[in-house]
Amino acid sequence: VHSTSLTTLEICPNAAIGVDSSGMIAFIEKENVSTISDVQFLQNPQNQTTWSHARIITLHGHGFFFPGFIDTHNHAPQHPNTGLFGKTTLLDWLQTYTFPMEASFSDLARAKRIYQNFVGRTLSHGTTTCAYYATIHVPATNLLADICLQRGQRALVGRVCMDSELSPEDYRDASVSSSVADSVASIAYIRSIDEAGAIVRPIVTPRFAPSCTSECLRAMGAVAKRHQVFVQTHISENKSEVELVKTLFPLSRDYAHVYDSHGILGERTILAHAVHLTPQERATILARKAKISHCPASNTAITSGCCPVRSLLDEGHTIGLGTDVSGGFSPSILENVRQAIWVSRHLSLQTGKEADKLSTEEALYLATRGGAKVVGLEGKVGGFEVGMEWDAQMVKLGEVDEAEDRFESGPVDIFGWESWSEMVEKWVYSGDDRNTVAVWVRGRLVHRTGRFEGSGEV
Ligand code: GUN
Ligand code: FE
Repeated sequence: VHSTSLTTLEICPNAAIGVDSSGMIAFIEKENVSTISDVQFLQNPQNQTTWSHARIITLHGHGFFFPGFIDTHNHAPQHPNTGLFGKTTLLDWLQTYTFPMEASFSDLARAKRIYQNFVGRTLSHGTTTCAYYATIHVPATNLLADICLQRGQRALVGRVCMDSELSPEDYRDASVSSSVADSVASIAYIRSIDEAGAIVRPIVTPRFAPSCTSECLRAMGAVAKRHQVFVQTHISENKSEVELVKTLFPLSRDYAHVYDSHGILGERTILAHAVHLTPQERATILARKAKISHCPASNTAITSGCCPVRSLLDEGHTIGLGTDVSGGFSPSILENVRQAIWVSRHLSLQTGKEADKLSTEEALYLATRGGAKVVGLEGKVGGFEVGMEWDAQMVKLGEVDEAEDRFESGPVDIFGWESWSEMVEKWVYSGDDRNTVAVWVRGRLVHRTGRFEGSGEV
């Protein structure tokens, strides 16, 4: 099961996918496969030996393979705060919960515990690629990259830059030059552990305009350009934040212009939220080909607003989904698929426009193919095609055990009468990490549960 366009899910029962030893999809047989000898015959009718040594992983019962999820916006060091936000909104939430937690990552042993736990957690939810904000600390940021590489999760890992007085004195960059030096040091380290950037890549991360001085923003734009790396930041999440940006950058026309005039906006830029953009800002972002990370759970939790996803899509923006842990209360992209649909429905209730509602297919597209475009991996991950890499999750739903008249395992009950698309709908609306029984990145098994029947070490 995978997206072939924004509105289309392709479902191929009785299919087989061949993955070669480099983790690339070598063939796809979409129909009529019930045994491995069918595959061998279909692949090579004359000589049936080509795939005879392949390790075979068969999905028994109700379930399917689905592309790994792509989380385009996540703050790993905020994991311990997941679920904590009370009635705060962005600016007091940052001061109350976020900055003190992130500041504690000067303690590397603590960072190690939390990052190990969190990378395992996101993998268990089927996230095969994640754009992470770390903290201002170089050692802890580099450690997060080490852990992602070790565990095999594709990641963009960014040392957070913030030198303005918005942040507490004990948790901010001392100067523009130290901010640049630390960012460059982290970029160099991450490049040194994965030169090709096959699994982990550095990303320049000016937190957001209010956290940075004008000099720092400009310097970060230059670092990104010089080192040819992606940039991630936040934009127009909350109305008070938008007002604050106006007072901090009085010479700029609007929030998007602040980034544009400091060299931050380009096709390798990921902008989180984009809830309250003006038409002119949208035009700027589109012209620069910058990408948008929609974080629906976060936008509801800290009451930022309902992002107008339909109109952004209609205008041609590139959009993926982000958990925004811990503004968002869940590390799961599946949860954010649901939340994106809920937010679109609340928006539709306000506008009276049926078209504002996102469909299940559309939200799953944003979680996979959309996210791949946002992080620069279009054509590589996010779907199943020959030549793409095997970043996938095995989803198993519940089973009815006829003999014992009981339901076996998993939060989704399947009665046997459901169509394939109904099974996918049931997974989207009531599934969770218990259904994700195995996860692969580039052909490597990176997570498995007791319900996975295949072999292989993680
Ligand atoms: N804006 C600046 N920093 C943050 C953050 O950590 N989370 C969210 N959601 N918005 C931000
Ligand atoms: Fe965020």
